Amino acid sequence: MDNSFYVTTPIYYVNDVPHIGHAYTTCAADVLARYYRLRGYQVLFSTGTDEHGQKIEKAARDLGITPQELVDKMVIRFQDLWKKMNISYDEFIRTTDPRHIKVVQDFFRLLDERGYIYLGDYEGWYCVPCETFWPESQLDERLVCPDCGRSLEKLKEESYFFALSRFQEPLLQYLGSHPDFIMPESRHHEIESFVRGGLKDQSISRLGLEWGIPVPSDPRHTLYVWFDALVNYLTVAGWGTSEEKFSNFWPYAYHLVGKDILRFHAVLWPGMLMAASLPLPRRIFAHGWWTVEGEKMSKSRGNVVDPYLMIDRYGVDRFRYFLMREVSFGLDGDFSEKALIERSNADLSDNFGNFVHRTLGMVWRYKKGVVKKPSPYQDGEWEKLLEEVKEGFQYYMERFAFSQALEQVWKLVHFANRYIEREAPWKLHKEGKEKEVENLLYRLLDNARLLSFFLYPFMPDTTLKLRELLGLQQDPGKESLEESLCWQGGPEVYSVEEAQPLFPRIIE
Ligand code: MSP
Repeated sequence: MDNSFYVTTPIYYVNDVPHIGHAYTTCAADVLARYYRLRGYQVLFSTGTDEHGQKIEKAARDLGITPQELVDKMVIRFQDLWKKMNISYDEFIRTTDPRHIKVVQDFFRLLDERGYIYLGDYEGWYCVPCETFWPESQLDERLVCPDCGRSLEKLKEESYFFALSRFQEPLLQYLGSHPDFIMPESRHHEIESFVRGGLKDQSISRLGLEWGIPVPSDPRHTLYVWFDALVNYLTVAGWGTSEEKFSNFWPYAYHLVGKDILRFHAVLWPGMLMAASLPLPRRIFAHGWWTVEGEKMSKSRGNVVDPYLMIDRYGVDRFRYFLMREVSFGLDGDFSEKALIERSNADLSDNFGNFVHRTLGMVWRYKKGVVKKPSPYQDGEWEKLLEEVKEGFQYYMERFAFSQALEQVWKLVHFANRYIEREAPWKLHKEGKEKEVENLLYRLLDNARLLSFFLYPFMPDTTLKLRELLGLQQDPGKESLEESLCWQGGPEVYSVEEAQPLFPRIIE
């Protein structure tokens, strides 16, 4: 269906502690899922964990427990964080889930039957912690992992291969005719030139590794973690298990990934899908990386940003807002608590929160909390601005340009604050122009109502609270956007609650 939307996050390595990088992608996916639900789309939002591999096997052995026991414990940290962050995922996929294991094996069989898999010898430099083979072309004489800097091991072993090289031309053609397939545009060019440089067949199995999915026809071999992990997107979409779900969602798949794992998603994955004659996802969007106060975030530096701590200190919506607003999605950004405080004091306390607080205060001061809709209800200037913001917001949201979409919304906030100054309701009240005061307050309240829709994907808790203050039906997701997100969409009467600050300023 054309109004379906399937959004995915990477499935995170379960042995990592959840950090700001994980929170970032998952928050962006949540914003999209909420946005498209609001627009009446049928949404499938999935996230999950990548649970196989040598690292887990080793760690479990060290602890004297089974790998399954270990991952069952670790997965909770992610699930708890998503609860805390109000992540509204529909499915949480774990690669140890038996339904996934079956799908991966079926997928391998299909590629094998189609002649894209063969047994050969793999020789290469392997990084055990990263579970990645590195081609010599990317190494220098130190022979260390380009990602983590640790020593590589030379490995030569029998391996199954996926004939990725056969998809070089088809992939180049696809990239050429689908300029929005990989976003941002710079990444599209980067992948195009990488593919043009030549694709090698991909080793997709390892010998002697227990903790993983066995090659169905030859269980001495375990499937390469990336082969296993990428297939999660098909498992969730119902490939091989639900024809209806699959045809509903798969053609509308949008993958969000960090820039470091773009190649797996933009080269290997499309190759695997082409080999299976399956449609490619609609879009693969690679976002940038967060540094922390100018430095690379890493365990050894001890500067890993803990989302739990940030939420405890600042509240979930300040954190979500900051992640989505501070940096253009697609570019790198820098995280610091100082920047979070400054951004949230300026945008959320001084502008947005202040507008709502002043408005409710005046509604009580001048109208005892009750304001009727003016008749007729018109305002050329304001209506025009609303149309412009609606259009801009949709334009940017559809391009996953969250920061720019929020900038559009703030046009309404700034306008409202200026409007209050310009129209000076306190003067009108002094002059006894009560009808005018009421008309003006209605506009302001209705602006707050409109903001509750725009902001719902970003700050769900705050918008629910705002709507409660406005005396409106709680969940904006339950309203028809077409009828509600328009100038005439407000109620006949607003009966509001006492003003209370939505975002008290944070004192550093
Ligand atoms: N398991 C694979 C993904 C398989 S998807 C089929 C994986 N897992 S991961 O736990 O390492 O997840 C990494 C995700 O977090 C990536 O998207 C990566 O870009 C992101 N980030 C890790 N550090 C980051 C920052 N400092 N900033 C932003 N995102 C970062 O890779």
